[in-house]
Amino acid sequence: MAATASLALAAALLSLAGLSRGSPQDGLPSRDFPPGFMFGAATAAFQIEGAWNLSGKGENIWDRWTHQHPEWVADGSNADVACDSFHRFKEDVQALVDTGVTMFHWDLPQPLQDLGGWTNPVVADYFEDYARILFRHFGDRVKYWITINEPASIIESYANSRLGAPGLDEHGVADYQASHTLLKAHAKAYHLYDKYFRKTQKGRVSITLNSAWHEPRTNSQEDRQAAERARQFYFGYWAHPIYSKIGDYPAVMKERIMRNSLAEGRFRSRLPEFSPQWVKFIRGTADFFAYNHYTTRYAASGTQGEIPSLQRDSGVIRSYDPKWPSSASSWLKVVPWGLRKMLNWIKKEYGNLPLLITENGFSDHGGLHDKDRINYFVSYLQELLKAIYIDKCNVFGYTAWSLVDNFEWARGYTEKFGIYQVNFTDPNRARIPKDSAQALRKIIKHRALVPNLLQGEMPEPRVVLVT
Ligand code: NOJ
Repeated sequence: MAATASLALAAALLSLAGLSRGSPQDGLPSRDFPPGFMFGAATAAFQIEGAWNLSGKGENIWDRWTHQHPEWVADGSNADVACDSFHRFKEDVQALVDTGVTMFHWDLPQPLQDLGGWTNPVVADYFEDYARILFRHFGDRVKYWITINEPASIIESYANSRLGAPGLDEHGVADYQASHTLLKAHAKAYHLYDKYFRKTQKGRVSITLNSAWHEPRTNSQEDRQAAERARQFYFGYWAHPIYSKIGDYPAVMKERIMRNSLAEGRFRSRLPEFSPQWVKFIRGTADFFAYNHYTTRYAASGTQGEIPSLQRDSGVIRSYDPKWPSSASSWLKVVPWGLRKMLNWIKKEYGNLPLLITENGFSDHGGLHDKDRINYFVSYLQELLKAIYIDKCNVFGYTAWSLVDNFEWARGYTEKFGIYQVNFTDPNRARIPKDSAQALRKIIKHRALVPNLLQGEMPEPRVVLVT
């Protein structure tokens, strides 16, 4: 929770008025984005700010993890300076029209971790206090609030120390306990806004959930069921308590984890139970759906993973198709159709709430001529347009990850997601737009997937950072 919760955390949304010109190509009814559709580019405090011990900022769990275990970071680096956005934030928010602020993007204060971090229910109360401060100070300007980013990723580092801070190996236990507090914390922040701030500030509040699309590995009934189980274990886990009609964790999770827990000789499920009051309190705590999407995985029926673990409880073996194009990140394969399938599944499962894509992006090893990133954005945006026009999915905005190259957690600076290059050896951390920044700018300017994004006319050099 960075002191400058700030601008640097920005999922910056640029809303432009637009015209609809239909021009069917590539199976698209239109290459235009609907009127009012919002575009932006996102980043996160810890990944760009630096200034790790300046201006009264205390130590957080990622400071501790990177300092104590440089060997766990791919290039031994840390984010002490990162993109130095703490000092250079004006450049990064130049010309942003509207700003959303994510409250919590993984940098829990170390003193709270010393109390057990998200496994301790009291952290939900501290989170509520923190939310109150942000609503008070920024609520007059921030109209889209995200309470917590990717809780599913947060709990991975309670299960596997090498994945990130806090660096625990309590799989199948601490991760489930942490999820319980995370959901409560989110709901407390939502209700706080509802009760004291919504009337005057008129904003909207949600939580960003993430998941790959899970496609059955084969057409067998077992694999189709496994894929559905994977969707519930990796996404329904978070979405079901908030968006389903009945609330609570998905039944399939409760049943399987209880069964495995008893078989392990325990007397209760490793997945904590919500009381009926908590089920009610958490259900419905989102004004829109916020979703991060990058990739797709195959799901097959089978048993894999440590005993106990979420993976083992799920009874799913996940894999990739070797034919899917790669990126610099081992987990990120380019599978544009997965986005459309996932959006349709969300709609079927939870109803057609307005949905904002809060992250979507591609990693490479660097370079200004990032053709593969442009291809990624274009192919995913094509599928997004199909979801909007053909399937009537209610998507109202799209945020590219990321504005600038930054500290990619356990991968250090080895995997680049930015549409702006940052020179990390330059004390000034100079930013230079990549070709993808130009291409996105063109898409936003024309509000359409205009042709020839890889070549031809490039816009004037004064570049608005969000584009
Ligand atoms: C999701 C996370 O929110 C962000 O912090 C991370 O850098 C990107 N995905 C890419 O892995």
